[in-house]
Amino acid sequence: MNYIGSKRRLSTFLFETISDTVGSLKDKTFCDLFAGTGIVGRTFKSKVAEVISNDLEYYSYVLNRNYIQNHQPIKYEEIIEKLNKIPGKKGFIYQHYCLESGSGRNYFSGENAARIDAIRQEIEHFKSDENLYYFLLASLLESLDKVSNTASVYGSFLKHLKPTAQAPLQLEPALFEYNDNSHKVYNEDSNELIKKISGDILYLDPPYNGRQYGANYHLLNTIATYNTNFVPKGKTGTKADYNRSMYCKTKRVYNSFNDLIKNADFRYIFLSYNNEGMVPQHELQKLLKRYGKYSLVTTSYKRFKADSNRPHKAKRTEEHLHILEKY
Ligand SMILES: C[S@@+](CC[C@H](N)C(=O)[O-])C[C@H]1O[C@@H](n2cnc3c(N)ncnc32)[C@H](O)[C@@H]1O
Repeated sequence: MNYIGSKRRLSTFLFETISDTVGSLKDKTFCDLFAGTGIVGRTFKSKVAEVISNDLEYYSYVLNRNYIQNHQPIKYEEIIEKLNKIPGKKGFIYQHYCLESGSGRNYFSGENAARIDAIRQEIEHFKSDENLYYFLLASLLESLDKVSNTASVYGSFLKHLKPTAQAPLQLEPALFEYNDNSHKVYNEDSNELIKKISGDILYLDPPYNGRQYGANYHLLNTIATYNTNFVPKGKTGTKADYNRSMYCKTKRVYNSFNDLIKNADFRYIFLSYNNEGMVPQHELQKLLKRYGKYSLVTTSYKRFKADSNRPHKAKRTEEHLHILEKY
């Protein structure tokens, strides 16, 4: 999934820097506290004793619950085949998020919106088998993202259906890595969860600007929860009470960082933060240095697609990995 702040193309850099700093990983607990797509946790899944993964957003929980917590084979082939054959249903997604229904919103073709409704309703019948349920939900999220009529995020849609959005939705399995260790996935606020967990390596990748993920990916949450008891708001059809992260609020972000680092019961903390982030680098460094031995590693990085199209924005940006060994 093309995701704001995704570390997909930085995962090798992160893995190498983290393992060089920490040494042997095989008996370590690795926590990805702002997990998003789960790509960082996935990189460490078979290399450490346990991955703890967390995100505030439910769609991210679904992805991580599948990619990280699922670790033994699932029989899915026949189910995916059947789901790919069921006819569309004109449900909530069709009614509110495609033009054909007269909603005025053009997130999906009419046919795909109705198929999303049909498949999502059918998946609910598998709820008693949690591993399978989250596997199917993750498969739906990943597959529908490929046919969505957006420029990467769901904060808006394109006027005309782009070619990939005209293609029929094909449910593809969200394959995960098998291994013998078990892993834990949470759907909580980072600053609450940090008081309840402990481990060796804490990886932090919070938002670095004011763009709330709950608004930018609202439709993924609506499809994942299928909680349709609300009236979609305005042109974009957002749910009014989406999550507001303190890491996206100028007045709250500094104290949130401070509380998080203070309460972290982990020996090593690695923090990815962009050089254009809300908290200036020197302030962040000063804060971190209060809690232990500090160093910084920097790499140049190609900007997120939707952002690089904005005028006055350089195509490349610097990505900083702050390293703290806590006293
Ligand atoms: C930069 S993205 C992480 C990207 C991720 N590392 C990846 O490669 O896909 C930041 C994530 O932090 C999550 N988030 C924001 N505030 C949070 C909070 N207070 N607690 C937990 N997660 C939060 C967002 O939902 C988003 O998925």
